[in-house]
Amino acid sequence: MWQTFLQPTSLAETLDLAGEYGADARLIAGGTDVLVELQRGVKPTRTLIDLSAVPDLEYVSLHGSYLAIGALTTHNTLLRSPLSWQYALPLAQACQEIGAPQIRTRATVAGNLLTASPANDTIPPLLVLDAQLVRASKTGARGLPVSEFYRGVRRTELQNGEILREIRIPLDAGERRGIFLKLGLRRAQAIAVVNVALLLSFVNGQVSEARIAVGCVAPTVVRASHVEAFLMGKHLEPEICQQAAQLIAQDCAPIDDVRAPATYRLRALTNLIVHGLTRLARGTASGEHPRPVLLQTEPPASSGASLPLSLLADDSVQTTINGNTARFAHVRQKTLLNFLREDAGLTGSKEGCAEGECGACTVWLNGKAVMSCLVPAAQVHGADIKTIEMHNSRLAQANGEKPAEKQSEAGEVVTSVQRDEGRYLQPLQQAFIDCGAVQCGFCIPGMLMAGAKLLEECPHPDREQMRSALSGNLCRCTGYRKILDALVQVGGQQHE
Ligand SMILES: Cc1cc2nc3c(=O)[nH]c(=O)nc-3n(C[C@H](O)[C@H](O)[C@H](O)COP(=O)(O)OP(=O)(O)OC[C@H]3O[C@@H](n4cnc5c(N)ncnc54)[C@H](O)[C@@H]3O)c2cc1C
Ligand code: FES
Ligand code: FES
Repeated sequence: MWQTFLQPTSLAETLDLAGEYGADARLIAGGTDVLVELQRGVKPTRTLIDLSAVPDLEYVSLHGSYLAIGALTTHNTLLRSPLSWQYALPLAQACQEIGAPQIRTRATVAGNLLTASPANDTIPPLLVLDAQLVRASKTGARGLPVSEFYRGVRRTELQNGEILREIRIPLDAGERRGIFLKLGLRRAQAIAVVNVALLLSFVNGQVSEARIAVGCVAPTVVRASHVEAFLMGKHLEPEICQQAAQLIAQDCAPIDDVRAPATYRLRALTNLIVHGLTRLARGTASGEHPRPVLLQTEPPASSGASLPLSLLADDSVQTTINGNTARFAHVRQKTLLNFLREDAGLTGSKEGCAEGECGACTVWLNGKAVMSCLVPAAQVHGADIKTIEMHNSRLAQANGEKPAEKQSEAGEVVTSVQRDEGRYLQPLQQAFIDCGAVQCGFCIPGMLMAGAKLLEECPHPDREQMRSALSGNLCRCTGYRKILDALVQVGGQQHE
């Protein structure tokens, strides 16, 4: 997929490399878009410049007049921050809608903006919040409002040699209410059919400013200027909400595509706007801070962040898998999934799709559940990885699996990860058996890794939390009910 994986360890080094390579390299952050594109042959490149080892780029913080979001801030990091819910509610709601937990642990807000699809969920909220994008290059930093950033489908004003350094959301003192709504073909792992962000300001109950942005209805996300103008000075009575929403037909011209015909899109969007305005009329405002399922518990003290690759002169990667530290040669061009299966001899993690859609490859990386098919192996140097083999089942032993041995280039023996000698099933594994939650078994390693992470984070989840935790894991056989029953058996509260 790529030949060279460059991993700068400072912002200055990153900007030097970005300037030097220009269009001959691609930047990568969480990799959830880049790896899918490279798998599909879209924007191929020989060289990746990895941002993940650059320190101090992951934050949500307040700076006087604005909320600052760093370039490496993941959707989960944003969801964990009370500041996001307080000052940028529609953005937090959008981040909660992206993919599934294993995607949100890795994917960044900046990456979502940079992919620049009109369906990307964080663009409408950042447009209505009037965000500024701070770009950095060797020659300095400059800001641009998000409203001037997009030139077309997947085309932006970002120049070769530049990176998106920070997103700034101005704070507003007045009464503002905002909301993000999305319609997808499923509740999770679904690109929007339509999405919309609404942000209204009020004086004495009347709309004093209306900002509405809609996605999936034009080459870029667009403002609904006719709807906005109509709402000015109005009270949000039910008939006003209805009349306003009808005007959206004057603001956009959706197309037919594989996800929906244009007529459906327009009708769905109209209904979403009515729904959004009605919710705002009832007073949905900043300040909501739910506790979303993250599948991300703090890593143990011994397993810090990944180390920069530059610490190793050759092209090997050293990592701790299920408690065993080993060094592997020639894996930097692979995904973590392929590295685990082909080099570490751990074939429990499965490849169902190789595009982040099915969850069969779920492992824990530094305490976070991730889709290992979307992680470059080079990013796990120095990391702590847990795979389904950490549970070491009797089944694995009964199969007589033994660790493989390989010879590295330097002549040292590189042993695939040893299995420990545990002789019991983990409670969740036992529950899957008790509940008949397994048929062909292909999805089960991923289900167990996502389910066990949920129980670690939330020992007594309700059904909604269970559904959310497993929303990134597909099963073609069981129908899911027995899988949920197994989770209930171990930690559930028996809610329906
Ligand atoms: C299964 C699945 C489901 C998904 N569901 C959704 C969804 O529901 N809604 C949605 O909107 N998206 C969805 N996505 C898309 C994706 O997860 C997001 O776009 C993600 O936020 C991208 O962030 P990343 O860090 O992974 O970016 P990467 O893949 O690392 O990079 C994305 C792009 O941004 C560039 N880039 C990244 N960071 C910077 C930077 N700081 N400066 C300059 N360029 C940069 C890269 O070069 C690349 O072009 C989904 C993806 C998958 C695989
Ligand atoms: S999500 Fe990784 S193989 Fe399907
Ligand atoms: S048991 Fe067969 S795919 Fe889930």
